[in-house]
Amino acid sequence: MILLTGGRGAVAIQLLALLHADGHAVRVGSGRPAELPLPAGVSAVACDLKDPNTFPAALAGVTSVFLYAEAASINEFVAAATEAGVEHIVLLSSSSVLGPAANPIAKAHLDAELGLADAPMTVSVLRPGAFAGNARSWAWAIKADRPINLPYPNAYTDPIHEIDVAAAAYALLTTPEQRGEQHTLTGPETLTFTEQIDLVAEITGRTIVVDKVTPEAWKQQMADYMPAAYADGLLDYWRLSDGIPTEITDTVATLTGRPPRTFASWLEENAAEFTS
Ligand SMILES: NC(=O)c1ccc[n+]([C@@H]2O[C@H](COP(=O)([O-])OP(=O)(O)OC[C@H]3O[C@@H](n4cnc5c(N)ncnc54)[C@H](OP(=O)(O)O)[C@@H]3O)[C@@H](O)[C@H]2O)c1
Repeated sequence: MILLTGGRGAVAIQLLALLHADGHAVRVGSGRPAELPLPAGVSAVACDLKDPNTFPAALAGVTSVFLYAEAASINEFVAAATEAGVEHIVLLSSSSVLGPAANPIAKAHLDAELGLADAPMTVSVLRPGAFAGNARSWAWAIKADRPINLPYPNAYTDPIHEIDVAAAAYALLTTPEQRGEQHTLTGPETLTFTEQIDLVAEITGRTIVVDKVTPEAWKQQMADYMPAAYADGLLDYWRLSDGIPTEITDTVATLTGRPPRTFASWLEENAAEFTS
């Protein structure tokens, strides 16, 4: 039995679809199991990664786990997984851990990775870069015909389709020879935010204006939507990648047997979110 934590998450939803389609026994855990969209025959269980009381029931009979990087109760999670006889954990971490360790986004993921460092089971770590789905943060402005305010329009990221992150997790969960190690995942190309927004405009047919704003103005604008430390963490990454292309890896292809999907393909699948 495979336990997917964070069941309402985009990657968990894609991973469930892959595992279910191939007939693997899956249980889906979530902080809000009643809200899970589940296919017939898949059971839901309460699994709040900040509440160790939920761990024993979620892990009963489980041999492999797909785990979101929540460090709050990671020691308790490892103890409960050990007690349940779990053999393998796939952690969804982030390539942020390869940058400055003081960055709060890196630290949150590093803490989760370190919490698994001495775990007795095999641990596979996925370290994706920026998700293609981050483009959704521009949808409101585009639909309202407002400019997109960016502090670093020429910062590069490597948009990775969430299905490719799920496919990498699927490969690790279902192919015992691939288990273990840290895997840095990227999309197939590195693009500046300006290039990404040009693609949104091309694919949706919308006219999109980008306004360069100061980091301070952007942080103030985001104050109602994200904690200040998280905004500072993002600004730090964008400053470090301003004009500097992201190094692309071939890990998605190596793990899954197919090249990663392009940002344009993600946009084509999700274009309606930017227009309707
Ligand atoms: N975005 C990026 O660029 C990026 C880059 C590298 C790594 N990552 C990693 O990937 C993670 C995000 O993965 P994801 O996109 O699959 O997750 P997501 O869709 O952002 O959801 C994250 C978690 O939040 C809960 N959740 C989902 N929908 C919710 C809703 N409508 N209301 C409240 N809570 C909800 C779910 O946990 P429950 O079901 O248990 O509540 C879910 O696992 C990040 O946290 C980070 O660790 C992200």
